[in-house]
Amino acid sequence: MGSMGKVLGVGLVVGCAVAMCVVAGTMVGKRVKSRRRWTKVVKVLEEFEEGCATPVEKLRQVVDAMAVEMHAGLASEGGSKLKMLLTFVQNLPNGSEKGVYYGLDLGGTNFRVLRVQLGGQRSAILEPGVERQPIPEHLMTSTSEELFDFIAASLQKFVEKEGNGSVALEGKLRELGFTFSFPMKQASVSSGILIKWTKGFSIHDTVGKDVSECLNQALERRGLDMRVAVLINDTVGTLALGHYHDEDTVAAVIIGTGTNACYLERSDDIIKCQGLLTTSGAMVVNMEWGNFWSSHLPRTSYDIELDSESPNPNDQGFEKMISGMYLGDIVRRVILKMSQESDVFGLSFSKLLTPFILRSPLIAAMHEDDSPDLREVARILGEILEIGDVPLKVRKLVVKVCDVVTRRAARLAAAGIVGILKKMGRDGSGSTASGKVKGGSHTKMRRTVVAIEGALYTSYTLFREYLNDAIADILGEDISSHVVLKVMEDGSGMGAAVLAAAYSSSGQDTL
Ligand code: BGC
Repeated sequence: MGSMGKVLGVGLVVGCAVAMCVVAGTMVGKRVKSRRRWTKVVKVLEEFEEGCATPVEKLRQVVDAMAVEMHAGLASEGGSKLKMLLTFVQNLPNGSEKGVYYGLDLGGTNFRVLRVQLGGQRSAILEPGVERQPIPEHLMTSTSEELFDFIAASLQKFVEKEGNGSVALEGKLRELGFTFSFPMKQASVSSGILIKWTKGFSIHDTVGKDVSECLNQALERRGLDMRVAVLINDTVGTLALGHYHDEDTVAAVIIGTGTNACYLERSDDIIKCQGLLTTSGAMVVNMEWGNFWSSHLPRTSYDIELDSESPNPNDQGFEKMISGMYLGDIVRRVILKMSQESDVFGLSFSKLLTPFILRSPLIAAMHEDDSPDLREVARILGEILEIGDVPLKVRKLVVKVCDVVTRRAARLAAAGIVGILKKMGRDGSGSTASGKVKGGSHTKMRRTVVAIEGALYTSYTLFREYLNDAIADILGEDISSHVVLKVMEDGSGMGAAVLAAAYSSSGQDTL
């Protein structure tokens, strides 16, 4: 090789080395950038997790705040964000009810019609026929007449499908328990005025109207031989069915599309209705705990944005941190923030801008994905959010976000339940009416059953486990072993029918 060749050769080598350095430099640069982006995303997660923290001391503050607000809501009308609504249900079913009754359940994602035949012996709910259907979305924002006509038509179809055995007795109307799961001001067990809509319903001309009358009129328009015997909240239905099966049941909780609780209160403690005469000395109070608020609640910027962009800002604050309608949207907002801070979700994430695109069953499916490569997470990100090729470590991040949101929700709901026990003196803390009964030489805790319904608790295992664990964390193993959370399947609708039975022949107290 001549000198020229050597020079060329050396030049080539040097050139290659420079090029390699440039490539390597770019790669290092890219890696540094990508590490920086990853750090940013992790920071979003860490801050969110910190904001959602629910150590047991915090939960105890929420318990106390719940009990304090319950007192305030019972003391005066408007005394608290907790409405503590009277239900006029003073006697809960005890298993001796007899006859055929109907239940109608409106309030969540689905609408249910059912029929029960009661044989007069507990557990003898015979031939329950249940029909479920999703509520057509347009009806949620239509007119009162359209909504109630739809309900009456569904009832009519249901009744027409039944055999001859169910024909109403001559001159006697069939009795219906109507579960209407929105806040109502009641003056009797069979009527109630809608205070406001929640859970995405918004039909202006129903607010201020008597809901029973709306339905009775729609039934009449169709010539249906039925009337509303009791009008109740879904929590009350769940409590009624719980008590029908087990008389230690004193409270009920719903954690589904929305969330709420009710419990049996002593009439004397309902100060805002002094002189309230009840035959049993007690009345079921619908707390409307979805609207509970306390400065102790762990609230993040995502919750604040969700609330301000909702159709009911400053309303239902507790519900917006707990219930199925909102969990997915908190997750969506956190993932959206991550994708805006970096490109870990790629560059096209426009679907993430769609409110409520992630429903809670999807959150549960991602959270509970136990495949090693998180296949379900990848599928949902791809099919629902149209984000493909998400690396495993980013999928893990998504699971973690679901975990943080769900854990906070479940633990706050647990604190709410313990708050009720505290108000009822059944949390083992006091000495007098503290739920302790004398048993031989030492006092022992009274068994307390809380009926529970709603898909978050019944169908989302991790949610249920977090909630149960939190109750034990707050109360301690010893006390919590006396508290039983019992799932009441179809409790809200079935309970309405059973209550219709309990109230069909007895007189109804009114204010
Ligand atoms: C309603 C309650 C209902 C709860 C559960 C809330 O949004 O205000 O009345 O009990 O959802 O369905």
